[in-house]
Amino acid sequence: ANVTAGAFTLQVNLSSSTFLEELNISKSDFPTDFIFGVGTAAAQTEGSPNEGGRGQSVWDYRAKILPDTIMNSDKFFSAVDGYKRYKEDILLIKDLGVNSYRFSISWTRILPNGSLSGGINQEGVDHYNSLIDELVKNGITPFVTILHFDLPQAVEEKYGGYLNRSFVDDFRDYSELCFKLFGDRVKHWFTFNEPRIIASYGYELGIAPPGRCSLPKDICVFKSPVPGKCFMTVGPCNFGGNSSTEPYIVAHNLILAHATVAKLYREKYQAKQKGEVGIVLVTPYYVPYSKSQEDQDAANRLFDFYLGWFMDPFVLGEYPKSMRELVKERLPEFTEEEKVMVKGSLDFLAINYYASSYAKNKPPSPNEVLRYTLDVEAEIIDGKDAPGLGNGNWPEGLEKLMNYIKDKYNNPKVYIAENGIAGVRNDALDLNVQLNDASRIIYAVRHLYRLNRAIKNGVNVKGYFHWTLMDDFEWGMGFRTRFGLYYVDFNRNYTRIPKNSVLWFHNFLNGTYESD
Ligand code: NOJ
Repeated sequence: ANVTAGAFTLQVNLSSSTFLEELNISKSDFPTDFIFGVGTAAAQTEGSPNEGGRGQSVWDYRAKILPDTIMNSDKFFSAVDGYKRYKEDILLIKDLGVNSYRFSISWTRILPNGSLSGGINQEGVDHYNSLIDELVKNGITPFVTILHFDLPQAVEEKYGGYLNRSFVDDFRDYSELCFKLFGDRVKHWFTFNEPRIIASYGYELGIAPPGRCSLPKDICVFKSPVPGKCFMTVGPCNFGGNSSTEPYIVAHNLILAHATVAKLYREKYQAKQKGEVGIVLVTPYYVPYSKSQEDQDAANRLFDFYLGWFMDPFVLGEYPKSMRELVKERLPEFTEEEKVMVKGSLDFLAINYYASSYAKNKPPSPNEVLRYTLDVEAEIIDGKDAPGLGNGNWPEGLEKLMNYIKDKYNNPKVYIAENGIAGVRNDALDLNVQLNDASRIIYAVRHLYRLNRAIKNGVNVKGYFHWTLMDDFEWGMGFRTRFGLYYVDFNRNYTRIPKNSVLWFHNFLNGTYESD
């Protein structure tokens, strides 16, 4: 089959008819007010850590003290030079033709030591004012993530960051400052990005700051494609920690912090600024591994422990029943007053969707060290280890996830805050080969098709943000992956070059993309 996208034609070898059907989508199939955007995050793009009065973040600190845990950690401090090139990058967004841009504010550019008492950094404020003005001038709507993983190191050192209730106060002050400074132009706020990842990667597995965990160091987190090899192990767990309790405490404080900020926005800013506050959650879609009741229950538990961990409190006012039963006294409780504050605290839900997994029942094993991912008593089998989900890249999962959210959580307003695909970095390949990202185009088209089906089924999805604008720093993976629509030359001056997907997206948005 051919997919024609203006200047070029994609040749696709198709074996499955579902796949073919999924290529059949155009912009006019979406509601006219549907939002199309792209996303980035400060720590992944900005660089310039010591410029403009910025304070140190927990990722700066990790890159310094544990460089071996981040691939190409030396380059982290430049990221992709976005702090200096934001005007140029906004033109890239404009050329793409999307009408919205999701980016994050670096807390330590606004409050270098994390707290109001340490003083506001005017240079940081000026930077984001200028960035937002530039967006507005170019007709691009800003969607702002208040915190995308780059917690101030000072907040970590003062009282243990997310583990301490004081975090809620500092985050509230920082968020309020954002509303005051930027809320006249920013109408869409995401408090946190992926709180589940903060809790699990930072406090269970130790593969992200602050690297707290209590696990034997040979536990493999990401398997290598080479059988029997491990790509990334836990830890190193040498900063203390308790993998069976701390993830729950951290998530609890993040939930309370979100709710506190949402309440504040509603009470003091919403009437005047007319904006909305939500949160970004990530979840795969879980497919039972077999038809057995055990595996069906395992899939439900996984949904509870990933999405329900946050969504149940936000919609129903308490943690999922399965979590309360399995985690028992290690799961913090909300007071009656907190329940009232947390329940209903989302104006919308934003979802990051990348892939789906199989869920298989896994009874507790008495020999393993207790931790969050064992509590769920289910094994996750990704697409690589089982047929059907095509490496986990399974667009149908997005449609099913949207329907699941509609049915379970009373059809909330949803944005897809992230959806995208990693390319493997290989600088040795001819540049034209690297720019020919047919797999990204096909991935995006198929997911948009599935999203559209969900909309036709009454799901309340209002927008889609592709991840990401340009190749960038991918956390522990460093610069090993290329998620961007635009290619970034990491070796020579960070030049941005459009990949074929830019052309496709542009044509899609202009209504000139067709498939046959
Ligand atoms: C989730 C995170 O929000 C983002 O920072 C990351 O780059 C992408 N997913 C891809 O892994």
